[in-house]
Amino acid sequence: MHKQGLSYYVLCFLALGITGYSIFVYGFMPLGSVVHPDMRANFQAHSSIVYVHIFASSVALLCGALQFSIQLRTLHPQVHRWLGRIYLMVGVLSGGLAGRAMAQTAYGGMVSRLGFSGLALLWLFSGLRAYLAICRGHVKEHQQWMQRNYALTCAAITLRIYLPVSMVGGIAFDIAYPLIAWLCWVPNLIFVEWIIRRQRNLI
Ligand code: HEM
Repeated sequence: MHKQGLSYYVLCFLALGITGYSIFVYGFMPLGSVVHPDMRANFQAHSSIVYVHIFASSVALLCGALQFSIQLRTLHPQVHRWLGRIYLMVGVLSGGLAGRAMAQTAYGGMVSRLGFSGLALLWLFSGLRAYLAICRGHVKEHQQWMQRNYALTCAAITLRIYLPVSMVGGIAFDIAYPLIAWLCWVPNLIFVEWIIRRQRNLI
């Protein structure tokens, strides 16, 4: 059996950290406590969608990290299948539809709204492609679409790294946020495409 690399454990640590942050802040604090005041009012006006998005997407972030465990896939394929269904149905489908709805009113104007909408639509699309591939028994294709899909899920991690970095760098929030709405996922997708191509060349 292949050994899991260090990068996998780093990914799990980050996924767990962001899930913990989301559950703590949105489960135990008043809605919008830690976001920009303009975002807070908007979150309070659409509270159910915000809660669905955050808790469903957290399920995706956590289950998705486990799904890349080689041990889980080979020793407990049944658990892998069930977690996969939860990942797609609860995480990507509910989290993505709610994320798409939130994108329409996202802070930062049209640039942010298009950035988050693109992320939501590609998240839903890549999840559907991964599901259809496995229904047809195309395992390799399924894996590649899941790699793309999870790279998009990791926008939750990159966004929460870039935001404090932009603040430390002294970039105004209303300039940084629309840029980050794109930067949180486009480089992830380019990176995962590079990994997929490299894996193809090794086969
Ligand atoms: C991958 C597809 C995703 C899309 C399209 C998306 C979209 C959005 C949008 C549009 C907002 C509101 C921004 C605003 O009103 O200005 C938001 C906020 C948020 N999202 Fe997502 N998101 C995604 C993934 C995730 C994941 C996987 C998590 C997992 C934890 C997550 C957790 C949150 C949280 C906690 C907020 C509230 C803002 C904050 O506290 O930082 N999102 N998301």
